[in-house]
Amino acid sequence: MNIAIGNDHAGTEYKYALLEALQKQGYKVVNHGTDSAESVDYPDFVHPVAQSVDQKVSDLGILICGTGNGVSMTANKYQNVRAALCWNKEIAELARQHNNANIVSIPARFVSLHECLEIVNTFVATSFEGGRHKRRVEKIKIA
Ligand code: RB5
Repeated sequence: MNIAIGNDHAGTEYKYALLEALQKQGYKVVNHGTDSAESVDYPDFVHPVAQSVDQKVSDLGILICGTGNGVSMTANKYQNVRAALCWNKEIAELARQHNNANIVSIPARFVSLHECLEIVNTFVATSFEGGRHKRRVEKIKIA
């Protein structure tokens, strides 16, 4: 599975922990985020991840900022992206099962590193259930 990851300065520390954990599990992860704690503008680091998922170069994406909102808003401008703001593993599981979310957005300032790892591990390991949820997901697009 190919995964794209992106973050602003609020997510750098968690990004490194996620890279290590995911690579250990054999996932191929491409890092598009900032690698420093210096203040940056989150959209600059979201667009490459969202483009990669939109164009199906990556199967899934991970985005991290302080609240998870800025990165979600940016990513969801792309037609084929369904970015879900997830603050615990149950939400992450349902975002995959019911919404077929293909990007998980993490609010780094509101979850612990342990919770962040749980959220991402659950997200990448869970599949879309299809069925009635497929019909609903197909109705999300507006054009
Ligand atoms: C950066 O201070 C913060 O605004 C950003 O990480 C994010 O929370 C935006 O939505």
